[in-house]
Amino acid sequence: MSDFQVPTLTRRALLAFAATVSAGAMLPPQSKAAARTREFRLRPGPGRAQITPEPHGDTAVWCYDGSLPGPEIRVRQGGRLRIVVENALDEETTVHWHGVRVPNAMDGVPYLTQAPIAPGKSFTYEFDAVDAGTFWYHPHQRSFEQVGRGLYGPLIVDEADPVRVDRDLIWVLSDWRLTKTAEMREDFGNRHDMMHNGRVGNTVTINGRVPDAFPVRKGERIRLRLINAANARIFSLDFGSHEPVVIAMDGQPVEPHAPEGGLVVLGPAMRVDIVLDMTGDTRSRVSVIDRFYKGLEYRLVDLSYEDEPLRETAPDWPVALPPNPLPEPDLATASRHEVTFNGGMMGAMVMQEMGGSMGDMGKDSSSMMGNMGGMMHSGGIWFINGIAAEGHVMDPMLTLARDKSHVIAMTNATAWHHPMHLHGHSFRVISRNGKPTRHREWQDTVLMSPRERIEIVFVADNPGDWMFHCHILEHQAAGMMGVFRVV
Ligand code: C2O
Ligand code: CU
Repeated sequence: MSDFQVPTLTRRALLAFAATVSAGAMLPPQSKAAARTREFRLRPGPGRAQITPEPHGDTAVWCYDGSLPGPEIRVRQGGRLRIVVENALDEETTVHWHGVRVPNAMDGVPYLTQAPIAPGKSFTYEFDAVDAGTFWYHPHQRSFEQVGRGLYGPLIVDEADPVRVDRDLIWVLSDWRLTKTAEMREDFGNRHDMMHNGRVGNTVTINGRVPDAFPVRKGERIRLRLINAANARIFSLDFGSHEPVVIAMDGQPVEPHAPEGGLVVLGPAMRVDIVLDMTGDTRSRVSVIDRFYKGLEYRLVDLSYEDEPLRETAPDWPVALPPNPLPEPDLATASRHEVTFNGGMMGAMVMQEMGGSMGDMGKDSSSMMGNMGGMMHSGGIWFINGIAAEGHVMDPMLTLARDKSHVIAMTNATAWHHPMHLHGHSFRVISRNGKPTRHREWQDTVLMSPRERIEIVFVADNPGDWMFHCHILEHQAAGMMGVFRVV
């Protein structure tokens, strides 16, 4: 760090964390909350958006309320949200409140937690904002196409006492596959994307637009809420001479720290809140570079100094966020569950190892791959514990005892990255390839590298059937999903 100190959580603060947690009731009393209900209306439907700069025209998209991203839904922690969704699409939809610990019936998963919302019909979601943080919303019906066409928006729950900053900003990151004349390519759900790294686009946007320069002032402190709403793109952001401090991951506070290798990594669906002090090179523009795809690095946006300096050095305001009321898991008594991911291209050898569960496929791996098309539907490309989900998954792959701690030991036996997401809960990421993690961060979506092993732990305190799936939406559609039942 340059000329300021990042406060770290002391041991005492961590104990306070734990204390809040055990005392924390999931839902505030109804009567109190009623007074603090905020109402929103969301209308998913066709629209047009100026995604690329002139001289291109606008692009036909699907979006909420005609805006890209959808309207910002914002409420104070402990408040309640009531959101009326009116479906103006030509097909069924739902809305899922990604990362928000809602009651099961409000989770927005078609057939599992509700009937899909038919065209012209509406559905009212209502839930308490238990955790403060950066969340987002999107459909859970044919999401690979509905999200890919632009249906997503930010959902922000403010702390009673937020960290002090000069500006609190949201960057919803996404990408698009556009033609030269900025029209949407209509290749959603194609088999190639499903078998590889998903539908990665050719045009990257911040808040629905290809950004150019982003004006900043020397010395100002920005809380930047990054939300990855892309179907499949993974971001690995380099802020150049600025030094971001991560203060929350997937909405949940984390001990403030510099990101590993200086890069802020976001798999699809993940959020990272950073505090950014404009103390790097302030003579000109500083480019934010996405370095995830080696050899395909590109400039996402320039931070440019057009205005007067705000102050000479960074402020010394504390950046640690207050903890959320998450139940602290107990490793000593936790049950253990093994989950293995297989499939995808280059996954033939792995599939061969699975033997029996693959039925009567030939022993020769090339003929196995050849067989896949004929033998399976589009669902049969990715497997969780040997099963590729098809259609609407209803049968639980795991049943978890309620209010008990559970370790899910996940093995990515594929050659691909997978951002694995669990609904209804946040979990601590406790180890990667057998090594304890430094921050034991709370996440709802954890990015797994090829061949990586990750252990997560959480208290299954939210009863119901919850989706567990890869958030590369083409992988999800091609089988990489299941249900955890909490009873
Ligand atoms: Cu963001 Cu199951 O989803
Ligand atoms: Cu995946």
